[in-house]
Amino acid sequence: MVTVLNHPLITHKLAIMRMEETGHKDFRENLDEIASLMAYEVCRDLPVKDVEVKTPMGLCNTQMLDTEVILVPILRAGMGLVNGIMDLMPTAKVGFIGIYRDERTLEPVEYFAKFPKELAEGVVLVLDPMLATGGSAITAVDMIKKRGAKNIKMVCLVGAPEGVEAFEKAHPDVDLYLAALDDHLNEIGYIVPGLGDAGDRIYGTK
Ligand code: PRP
Ligand code: URA
Repeated sequence: MVTVLNHPLITHKLAIMRMEETGHKDFRENLDEIASLMAYEVCRDLPVKDVEVKTPMGLCNTQMLDTEVILVPILRAGMGLVNGIMDLMPTAKVGFIGIYRDERTLEPVEYFAKFPKELAEGVVLVLDPMLATGGSAITAVDMIKKRGAKNIKMVCLVGAPEGVEAFEKAHPDVDLYLAALDDHLNEIGYIVPGLGDAGDRIYGTK
């Protein structure tokens, strides 16, 4: 299932990120804020357990989270989504996947993987701002499934229709969340209109 979070606050902040003149400080700050807003929606169906708590006025039957949440950013740009989600779920654990896209072939190249031991039992949120051809996200979810994870959600900021189609075909069981679905990929595999190279804009490289 693909969910596009067309929310005025998210779209406004994303518009600032898209602007060519936005520098890396403002780009990062808006990304942090969008990540928190997206987390609110992405976590809507997290497992909960019934609990009884004592308020100053009496007993209250309510619910609390009943799962480990594991964030898995795809390095580098996925790191830009971690802090905003951690603000809402400070006990989340973090795994890392290093993948870069070969600039010539656009094929994903894996270079790092490190996961918490709860990966197979918890809810895993895979994070990457950009879903272009979909190759990096598909490979990341392959790597996580291979290690036993069953409850996986893919969280991206901007997607291209080509990447969405490829991802859904490869992983029909994984829910995909986007802040925006853009128009198309250009001839060098960049999302149009997109926001440029997310990693470079977050970290001020290039
Ligand atoms: C970017 C982006 C995704 C990938 C998307 O990473 O952050 O990981 O490209 O493209 P795809 O859907 O076609 O695979 P990049 O390879 O530029 O690495 P970086 O995050 O280290 O800059
Ligand atoms: N990676 C990016 O950072 N931006 C794109 O538009 C495509 C891939």
